[in-house]
Amino acid sequence: METASATTSATASTLTRSRSITQQQFRQVMGQFLTGVTIVTARAEDGPHGTTVNSFASLSLDPPLIMICLRAGSRTGAVVAAAGAFTVNILSRGQAELGARFAASGRPSGHEAFAGIPHRLGASGAPVLAGTLAHLECRVRKTVTAGDHTLFIAEVFDLDAGPEFLDIPPLAFHQGRFLTIP
Ligand SMILES: Cc1cc2nc3c(=O)[nH]c(=O)nc-3n(C[C@H](O)[C@H](O)[C@H](O)COP(=O)(O)O)c2cc1C
Repeated sequence: METASATTSATASTLTRSRSITQQQFRQVMGQFLTGVTIVTARAEDGPHGTTVNSFASLSLDPPLIMICLRAGSRTGAVVAAAGAFTVNILSRGQAELGARFAASGRPSGHEAFAGIPHRLGASGAPVLAGTLAHLECRVRKTVTAGDHTLFIAEVFDLDAGPEFLDIPPLAFHQGRFLTIP
């Protein structure tokens, strides 16, 4: 059995991977962590763009900072980097279809992607979706390349949580599936 001192004396350089971790194992383990679901929107040159994102987290209260992680080389990553701004729309329990629609790889782009989805354009030109629990309009402050993803740290410059949605549960994601909280 390892002693406490032996454990605490380990430095980051000694904590090398003792066995190979497959992407499947990593996905399976991370899939046990329940998250909410958002649609991140931004203004692209050819019109509005949106993608389903669950890597959203609050980062700082003063100043108000949030973070999202986007796959390096993804269209959304390029659009967000070019726009320097994006909006996070937090989905409610009844919006799984919307979450699936904006995660589909072959979905239409530009205005066609938002056809039939009630929305308005926010200050940055990013769509603010109607009927979501809340939204945050953000300006990118810092990007960090981390493995095969890019971390976007952004400052919130406007936000709203519709009081009419206070009693409605959020849409959740667990083990690769949308989950409806009763
Ligand atoms: C629930 C859920 C959460 C997701 N979260 C992320 C995420 O945080 N970052 C990311 O890069 N992709 C995420 N994806 C995958 C993207 O939505 C998907 O790959 C999309 O097609 C990317 O669009 P793009 O090619 O326009 O960037 C998620 C998918 C689902 C269903």
